[in-house]
Amino acid sequence: MQYPATRRPLSRPRQLSRLSLAVRFASGLYRERARIAGAGYLARDPMSLLKLRPGRENPYPVYERLRAAGPLVPTRQGNLACTSYHGCDTVLRDRRFGRHPAEDRPGMSFLGMNPPDHTRLRRLAQPAFTPKAVARYTARMERTAVGLLDEAAVAGRFDLVSGFAAPLPIVVITDLLGIPDSRAADFARYGRAIIGSLDGIKSVRHARQLLTARADLRRLFEHLFELRRREPRDDIVSHLVAAEGEQITPREMVPMCNLLLVAGFETTVNLISNAVLALLAHPEQWRALCADPDGLAPQVVEEVLRWDPPVQRTSRIALEPVELEDRLIRQGQQVITLIGAANRDPAAYQDPDLFDTTRFDPARTAGAPPHLAFASGIHYCLGHALARAEATVALRLLATRMPHISRSGPIRRRNTTIIRGPLHLPVTTPPTPAELVP
Ligand code: HEM
Repeated sequence: MQYPATRRPLSRPRQLSRLSLAVRFASGLYRERARIAGAGYLARDPMSLLKLRPGRENPYPVYERLRAAGPLVPTRQGNLACTSYHGCDTVLRDRRFGRHPAEDRPGMSFLGMNPPDHTRLRRLAQPAFTPKAVARYTARMERTAVGLLDEAAVAGRFDLVSGFAAPLPIVVITDLLGIPDSRAADFARYGRAIIGSLDGIKSVRHARQLLTARADLRRLFEHLFELRRREPRDDIVSHLVAAEGEQITPREMVPMCNLLLVAGFETTVNLISNAVLALLAHPEQWRALCADPDGLAPQVVEEVLRWDPPVQRTSRIALEPVELEDRLIRQGQQVITLIGAANRDPAAYQDPDLFDTTRFDPARTAGAPPHLAFASGIHYCLGHALARAEATVALRLLATRMPHISRSGPIRRRNTTIIRGPLHLPVTTPPTPAELVP
C-alpha cells in the first residue's frame, strides 16, 4: 500500500493569517489556563481542581467535596456537574437529554450524534462487537499477551503500560479494522494524538500536532478504504466500504473509523493498567486472583471498572426543560455526568471507596448495581464486550505467569481529566524457576 505525502507550502498572506490566528488562539488558551489555576488553587473550585494536578493524582476526594454540595452542582461555566449514581444514570438514559444538535457536523462520529443518525451508524458497526464476534479474537489476544509477557519476563524489570497494557489492545483493534500490521504503529501514533485532545488543546504546538495527526490519519484510512474496495476481507473497514452510499455516507466513514480506533485502545490500556495498580496496592486481592485466575478475573475487571474507571466523565445537553434531583434543568444546559463519582455513590454501593473484588461475584445474592464505566442508555459503550475480554485475558495471564510481580518505582499519571490511568507503571518480576535452570 502506497501512502503519498500531499502537503503543499503555504503562500505568504496565508502564512501571516495563520500566524495571527495562532497568536489569538495561544493568548486565549493561556488566559483560560490561568483562570483554571486561579479558580482551583486559590478559590478551591472543585471542577477546576479536577483539571489540575490534585484532581489528576486522585479525583475521588474532590468528587466527595462536590457530592457534599449536592447531586447537581452548578459550575463556573453555567453547567451542572452530577455526582449521584441515580442522576448520572438518568441523564445518560433519558431521551430528553442528548448531544448538542449543533454537534451533528462533518467530522463528528456517531458518539456525538443523536438518533436517527446515531442509530443508523451504530447499527452498522454493531455486528463486529457482539460477544460472539469478540470470542473469535480470544485466541489472538492470548497469543499476544503471552508473547508480551515472555519478552517482559526476560527483561525482569519493565514498564507495564508500554510493555503490556498498551500493545495488546492495539493489536486487537488494528486487526478488527483490518489495518495491515506494517501500518499499525502509525495508526496507533495518530490515534493517540487525537485522544490526547479530548481534554482540550494544551498549546499551539499541541494544536498543530493534532491537525497534522488528523490529516495523516484521514489519508491512511482513505488509502485503506481504496485497498478494501479492491480486496475486501472479513474486517470492519471492508464491511463499511460495502455499505458506503447506502447505510453510511462517504464523509461519515473516516470519523467512524477514527472513533473505533481511538476508543478501541486508549481506554482499554488504562483499564488494564488501573487494574494492576489497584491489585498491587491490595496484595491480598492479588493473591486471591493468582490462586484462581480463570474463575476470578472477570469479577476483578468489573470492580476495577467501578472503582477506578478509565473514562471519568461524559456529558449531555438537556434537549428540553427537565426536572432532575429536585432541580429544573434549562433546555440547552449541559450536565456533566461524573462517572468516577457516580461509581462511588454511597447511595448505590456499600463501602464505595473499598476496592472489593468480590463485589461483583455472580454468586453474591444482593448484587451491586451495574457500574457506569461504559455509560448507559443509547451511547452505552459499543466495545464493552471487547474491552472486558481483553482485560480479563490480560489479568488472567499476568496472574498465572507473573504472580510475584511488584512495583519498582513511582508512577506518572496521564495529563488528562476525562481519561484516567498511569502513563508509566514500572514493575519487576523475579525470574521464574524455569529460567533459573541453565
Ligand atoms: C475499558 C475500556 C473502555 C471504556 C471504559 C469505554 C467507555 C466508554 C464510554 C463511557 C462510552 C460512552 C461515552 C458517552 O456516552 O459519552 C463509550 C462509548 C463508545 N465506546 Fe467505549 N470504552 C472502552 C472500550 C472500548 C472499545 C474497546 C471499543 C471498541 C472499538 C469502544 C468503542 C466505543 C464506541 C464506538 C462508543 C460510542 C457508542 C455510541 O455512541 O453509541 N470502547 N465507551
